[in-house]
Amino acid sequence: MTEYRTEHLQPDTKGLARAAELLRSGALVALPTETVYGLGGDATDDTAVARIFEAKGRPSFNPLIIHLSDAAKAERYVEMDEDARRLADAFWPGALTLVLPLKPDAGIAPLVTAGLPTVAVRVPEHPLARDLLRLTGRPVAAPSANPSGRISPTTAQHVLDGLDGRIAAVLDGGPCPVGVESTIVTTQPEPTLLRPGGLPVEAIEACLGAPLAAHGGGINAPGQMTSHYAPEAAIRLEADSARPGESLLGFGHMDCDLNLSPAGDLVEAAANLFSAMRKLDEIGKPIAVAPIPDHGLGRAINDRLRRAAAPKD
Ligand code: TXA
Ligand code: MG
Repeated sequence: MTEYRTEHLQPDTKGLARAAELLRSGALVALPTETVYGLGGDATDDTAVARIFEAKGRPSFNPLIIHLSDAAKAERYVEMDEDARRLADAFWPGALTLVLPLKPDAGIAPLVTAGLPTVAVRVPEHPLARDLLRLTGRPVAAPSANPSGRISPTTAQHVLDGLDGRIAAVLDGGPCPVGVESTIVTTQPEPTLLRPGGLPVEAIEACLGAPLAAHGGGINAPGQMTSHYAPEAAIRLEADSARPGESLLGFGHMDCDLNLSPAGDLVEAAANLFSAMRKLDEIGKPIAVAPIPDHGLGRAINDRLRRAAAPKD
């Protein structure tokens, strides 16, 4: 894993310009939002998104929230229905995240959504977050800026306690005013609460004029998502070579149909994983997958592959 001298950027013109430059170059920058600090990376850049999972040390690929500078931009990435528009008008910018159908031509890296057909979107209210998003000019994927399994950071020092040396920079915006994560809601098939958070459920229900359904699936527990992307094709793991009729998904220098990373780089492999699975799935043959080392991002890749290989119901 790359070691960085993490830059501690001040909330001024110079700090913002540097943070935007780093994000645009594919580096990771922790940024203040009104809820908690986010670990930001360019959501259109597969490798930047893979680095987010690497920096957090996450053993699985949970889908991430994309952050936009203003509500009008959301239509470029997601299908907004009437309820979604009403909620966006009432609560954006703010501590509300909407999970909505991803537009196919949105240009969002497949790793952001963990291959799901939906994406989580939020327009933060924090002035520094908005300035940074505007300057960067890209959607920014950002989970909370803590190592996996630790609590969300609400100061730049918390971020450094967990991620110093693992990210390019932190933009210091002082303490986060809300201090808990955003409330996550989906409007489809009906308005449903996916995670309680900084925006009270009562406010959302008053806006919609109807109660929110509760979600049974426990999306906060990694791997508990009910609707993970799974390929149609049968998958065989730890394959040394393809059997007749199989496609081979390779890793490291080898003969195969598609290679996650000829150089054997786990960040590159993670960045390519979901699009590679989709491509091989379209061919329609069973997929054999070469062994992937089970350390660093390899753990998350293997977790994903095991899920994809598990019998489907
Ligand atoms: O306040 C917040 O929401 C902070 C700041 C940085 O914006 N972010 C945050 O991200 O808490 P994270 O990654 O720690 O939590 C995002 C949650 C995860 O539980 C994930 O499973 C869920 O959002 N999520 C993301 N995309 C989803 C999708 N397409 N469907 C269902 N759940 C989704
Ligand atoms: Mg989190």
